[in-house]
Amino acid sequence: MNQRTPLIAGNWKMYKDCSQAAETAKTLLELTTGVKDVDIMIAPSFASLYLIGNILKNSDIKLGAQNICHRKEGAFTGEISASMLLSCGCSYVIVGHSERREIFKETDDNINKKINAVINAGLIPILCVGETESQRDAGDTFKILDKQIESGLKDFFADNLKNLIIAYEPVWAIGTGKTATDEQAQESHKFIREKIEKRFGKSLAESIRILYGGSVKPANIKQIMNMPDIDGALVGGASLDAKTFSEVIKYK
Ligand code: PGA
Repeated sequence: MNQRTPLIAGNWKMYKDCSQAAETAKTLLELTTGVKDVDIMIAPSFASLYLIGNILKNSDIKLGAQNICHRKEGAFTGEISASMLLSCGCSYVIVGHSERREIFKETDDNINKKINAVINAGLIPILCVGETESQRDAGDTFKILDKQIESGLKDFFADNLKNLIIAYEPVWAIGTGKTATDEQAQESHKFIREKIEKRFGKSLAESIRILYGGSVKPANIKQIMNMPDIDGALVGGASLDAKTFSEVIKYK
């Protein structure tokens, strides 16, 4: 058994207004009291971060953001900085989600700068990587993962990356109901861990948590978590309902 504490993270995307978010967070707190040996995080929209930060204060559920601006402050309309996220009570930031890459055209270079801002602020980055269906069909999965990790983590050293988390999210499995088979997921996770070892050494490769994301739900989480290189899940749709998400969290 490895020493990595599993992390189950919920990405609420652009769902829930403030009162819906507050209600879900409160119910989730009730449903997960006493859960041990699993780290839990939820990432609501920016609009409800402060409110949810107060609800989660002094609890075991951590707050995450879905995005960040790499700049410290300034005339950047519509953006949010690391210090703003910290002041709302955030400890995690999702960076480079495939929806950010595909819909909002974030590049590996943007993502690299965002990771830098997250680390400099003492926040925990969750770097998302994953191939599209056509890239998988073309046999390019590992090539894509290699490139996303190489460029996303350009100019970093193992010492900066102690808190880094990587989420492997095959784009074709996000919100589609299609899940990668356990073997497909494990194969990519193993590849990512080996890549981290080659690039940053054995110690980081052994300690880094690699989450799986893409249609994770109560019915498949247990099998997924049985894979040796899978250390948790980034959950979209199934994190929106507190009861369903608590079942994912209590997969053991
Ligand atoms: P999903 O989303 O669980 O709805 O597939 C996962 C994600 O986008 O992180």
